[in-house]
Amino acid sequence: MEWTTERRYRRYEDWTQEERKEIQEKMAQSPWHVSYHIEPKEGLLNDPNGFSYFDGKWIVFYQNFPFGAAHGLKSWVQLESDDLVHFTETGVKILPDTPLDSHGAYSGSAMQFGDNLFLFYTGNVRDENWIRHPYQIGALVDKDGKIEKIDKILIDQPTDATDHFRDPQIFNFKGQYYAIVGGQDLEKKGFIRLYKAVDNDYTNWQEVGNLDFNNDRTAYMMECPNLVFVGEQPVLLYCPQGLDKKVLDYDNIYPNMYKIGASFDPENARMVDVSELHNLDYGFEAYATQAFNAPDGRALAVSWLGLPDVSYPSDRFDHQGTFSLVKELTIKDGKLYQYPVAAIKELRASKEEFSNRSETKNTYELELNLEANSQSEIVLLADKDGKALSINFDLVNGQVTVDRSQAGEQYAQEFGTTRSCSVTNQATTVNIFIDNSVFEIFINKGEKVFSGRVFPHADQNGIFIKSGNPTGTYYELEYGRKTN
Ligand code: FRU
Repeated sequence: MEWTTERRYRRYEDWTQEERKEIQEKMAQSPWHVSYHIEPKEGLLNDPNGFSYFDGKWIVFYQNFPFGAAHGLKSWVQLESDDLVHFTETGVKILPDTPLDSHGAYSGSAMQFGDNLFLFYTGNVRDENWIRHPYQIGALVDKDGKIEKIDKILIDQPTDATDHFRDPQIFNFKGQYYAIVGGQDLEKKGFIRLYKAVDNDYTNWQEVGNLDFNNDRTAYMMECPNLVFVGEQPVLLYCPQGLDKKVLDYDNIYPNMYKIGASFDPENARMVDVSELHNLDYGFEAYATQAFNAPDGRALAVSWLGLPDVSYPSDRFDHQGTFSLVKELTIKDGKLYQYPVAAIKELRASKEEFSNRSETKNTYELELNLEANSQSEIVLLADKDGKALSINFDLVNGQVTVDRSQAGEQYAQEFGTTRSCSVTNQATTVNIFIDNSVFEIFINKGEKVFSGRVFPHADQNGIFIKSGNPTGTYYELEYGRKTN
């Protein structure tokens, strides 16, 4: 079935029960569902949205096209959690059903105000000539999960921006609410604009100016900007589409990058003493990462393990996309660390010494120790011939390389089948999370991260040490409390 524009933007109510049932049945046949990651109940999942804490619970929405593995008419689907590890869908949705979001509820953020959770998002609207009008709009969710949209445009398209203007993130800095929005200027260069809530009224936004973060102005669009604070230090996470690889090399179709500042100067819309640009994740997938400061001050982040404009093997089973685990962001010696929240350890169902295994359930965590100056290679999701996801730890030459060229069904090969990052020759710890079709690799508890998808064949479920002597622990992981 071809994904024509008509089919992508068909109104939700025009899909029949039979069509929806067919999608469900196809999805049920997929061998690539995950067990302890968030995946869509129906169709495609893309960006994490509205990640927040509300009424004593953690909230995150996934952006969704429920009618297959395509980017069509988007909505938001809410999940809640009490530990940031086990998530349950609640049924709360933002549907694209008003004149201000008729062609999609695009990305945005959330913040509790009184008894409500305020959702700040982009209403994607196309007029009769298919011209796009991006509106930054809002909705309120009450404690019973009732959603009410705010019937006005909160931030309109600026005159100096194209129709690429979206993904508002609300944040609190020293008691004042601000928002940043990603955009493209009339010279087709990406920018991030800072707004201030007048009298802290989330329906009244005043422009402060373009955020000064030492923008190299090579990207044509900044998607999904997020400003979070680790102590006093602002960390800006964003997706500079079209970034010149001479500024910083990357392999994925679109990168997810970050910069750290010494402090934030909101009056002048400035990140002070801003760092170089860094790649947030060295793997094949991690995009549209959303971060926020929890009420206890922690900076928490979750990424979409998927990329725009890429087709996935799971598409033929009518599903696409998962989230990463929820990661806490910290800074050590000036470097950003990202590591799953402590509650992830609750998934550990059994513990054994790390060694070769001809069969696993492909849902496990490895905690490995590598000696200084050592060289080793392990393969995961391996068949009997050793065809697998390979991870090579070369601490002599200071490089870790992940190769997925033998790991199941191939896709996106034009962007390469290996990814590398540099490491020191010092003793190194590695935590690897495998969940059927997802891997997340954390080096030195989050100093460097590789995330990605793999679509293993049915017989790819072994673990082998190909060379060297990595030691450590194998934990089988069980999600346990999942109810839907
Ligand atoms: C990033 C993105 C956002 C946009 C949303 C639309 O993946 O393109 O910029 O709001 O997806 O689905």
